[in-house]
Amino acid sequence: MPHSGNTPRPERDHLDPSTLCARPAGLPPSATQPLVPPLQLSSVYSVAGLEQIDALYERREQGFIYARDGHPNASQLAAKIAALEGAEAGLVCASGMAAEAALFLTLLGQGAHVALSEGLYGKTVALVGRELARFGISHSLFDAARPESLRAVVTPATRVVFAETLSNPLLRLADIAGLAEVSRVASATLVIDHTFAPLLCFPLALGADVVAHSATKLIGGHSDLTLGLAAGPSELIARTAATASTFGLSGNPFESWLALRGMATLSLRSSRACATALKLAERLAGDRRVRTAHYPGLVAHPDHVRAAHWLKGGFGTIVTIDLEDRQRADLFIRALQHIPFAPSLADVATTLSHPASTSHRNQSPEQWARQGITPGLVRLSVGLEDPDDLWADIDQALPP
Ligand SMILES: Cc1ncc(COP(=O)(O)O)c(C=O)c1O
Repeated sequence: MPHSGNTPRPERDHLDPSTLCARPAGLPPSATQPLVPPLQLSSVYSVAGLEQIDALYERREQGFIYARDGHPNASQLAAKIAALEGAEAGLVCASGMAAEAALFLTLLGQGAHVALSEGLYGKTVALVGRELARFGISHSLFDAARPESLRAVVTPATRVVFAETLSNPLLRLADIAGLAEVSRVASATLVIDHTFAPLLCFPLALGADVVAHSATKLIGGHSDLTLGLAAGPSELIARTAATASTFGLSGNPFESWLALRGMATLSLRSSRACATALKLAERLAGDRRVRTAHYPGLVAHPDHVRAAHWLKGGFGTIVTIDLEDRQRADLFIRALQHIPFAPSLADVATTLSHPASTSHRNQSPEQWARQGITPGLVRLSVGLEDPDDLWADIDQALPP
């Protein structure tokens, strides 16, 4: 309201401009609610008094205090991933690796043993084999498609069994139900990294204890955020949330907000990209310029029968091809006009990566050999373009 010269100035108008500027604007009164989740960037919340702060810390009252411990955008995203995975609770972390680190740091102690499946994302192997090893944690490898290979490596010290639904880059499908059975007998927690296959199956329903995602990939879906998710039993997720806060692994509001927005179209993006990936895989498998095409939707894939039985709505959005050697892979990468070499995956646009020089760069030749990784492998992450337009670019770029 404008100020009239004759009436005494209300106290508010006497405030120094610096005070006026510094004080936070209150929320505007509104009888209506926003239709979409508001972005709430506040790193801290104001508390009514000591009664309330006690009640908040003791969880007698619901509310936020400090964003590293929780904020509305993370709570909304956590609730969404929990509902999707059929879990009691969900958690948002700063990246897929942060979610994995938070789980490992919660579940493991000195002297513990981890069973890791072959062919995991390279940084997961480095996290356990290099970083956690410094704290007295050992690990063994097993083949996620053969639960009997897990049975052979579990020990009384095994606390965590970790596998990816679809391995990177050869897309081997884990026998989650079989791994769950062995893990249960061994009293170990089965963690499934479900980054490559959200919606295609539901690991908790197959017997896994916890699901982890790099939401940087399909869930975000636009290559514009970095975030990780975990979903599982309330008690474990609460302990993992405490670990994440203490180690500073929590996710921030803006990226949580973006990921929640990405999830709205996840189903459409996934089914479209899966359908295109199958078409491209079939063409690539039948092309004499390609030594091998790896895709679970192909009859020749070693896990095709299980994939056809378990995966609903497609066989995934990743197709990996073997072009024989590094030189031919490089020729292909440089000849493509519209598919960029961008070492991530699951964007709306198709991208490609070269596992030997990116995700699996720091692994030894023995590790490569065990996983079937060669310098000729190129991993395509299929997006939402027209399949014929994609094929036209691939076709002109494949070296003769
Ligand atoms: C299967 C898988 N898990 C975990 C991660 C790590 O996720 P982030 O990059 O969000 O830390 C990645 C990253 O590429 C991945 O491919």
